[in-house]
Amino acid sequence: MTKTDWTRCFAIVAAAISLAGCHNDMWTQPKLRAQQESDFFADGQADRMPVPGTIARGGLKEDEAYFTGRRNGKLVADLPSRVVLSKELLARGKERFEVFCTHCHGYAGDGKGMIAQRGLSLRRPPASYHTQRLREMPIGHFFEVMSRGFGVMFSQATRVPVEDRWAIAAYIRALQLSHDFDASSLAPDETQKLNVPADEQLGLPGAHKKGEAEGAPSKE
Ligand code: HEC
Repeated sequence: MTKTDWTRCFAIVAAAISLAGCHNDMWTQPKLRAQQESDFFADGQADRMPVPGTIARGGLKEDEAYFTGRRNGKLVADLPSRVVLSKELLARGKERFEVFCTHCHGYAGDGKGMIAQRGLSLRRPPASYHTQRLREMPIGHFFEVMSRGFGVMFSQATRVPVEDRWAIAAYIRALQLSHDFDASSLAPDETQKLNVPADEQLGLPGAHKKGEAEGAPSKE
């Protein structure tokens, strides 16, 4: 036998040994898939409920204020401690608000979003945030409305994660302050800043032009 023959022979033996270790037992073992029926359990389902009191990894929600917007059952009046009020938070809130809320509530939060203007027919129209009642509402209310829905408005919880709900709630507060404000109380240099669009102040790209910002086309 030449050297090449020996090498070939060795390769065949090695392959035979390693393939002998391959079984499909794990693949074909008796098992049940999610949502499958099963006569093993009395209720006829394959799925089992978690043992009461079990918490999935990463699912511990001890921080009541952060996860529910309430503390001891009362709506929180301030942002929960782990949410830091910053320019970045407001910028994120603005961006998320414009993705998830403006089509109903309008860019200014006045309830005149595009689909509200064009035939959204719910029992009640989208709320304006610029009412005395909502101005006086603790910030936890806005978080709760997004989390659980309110009246005819459905919950936004599956689309907007907790962190972003707080960012949006903070931005709604900013919108409210900007709408119920006596500009004559400002110092002259502060008045100058009023002409700078919010997008620019928050360092966001693509500032909205006036008029366009309300989502209302001037004519059809
Ligand atoms: C499909 C349209 C729609 C979308 C999207 C929507 N809302 Fe609403 N929202 C409504 C309607 C309609 C109401 C009035 C509900 C009622 O009074 O029954 C409302 C009411 C509210 C209220 C007022 C609750 C009160 O106390 O009166 C708040 C705050 C609010 N929405 C926040 C939001 C935020 C924040 C988002 C985005 C994350 C959002 N909504 C997305 C339709 C919408």
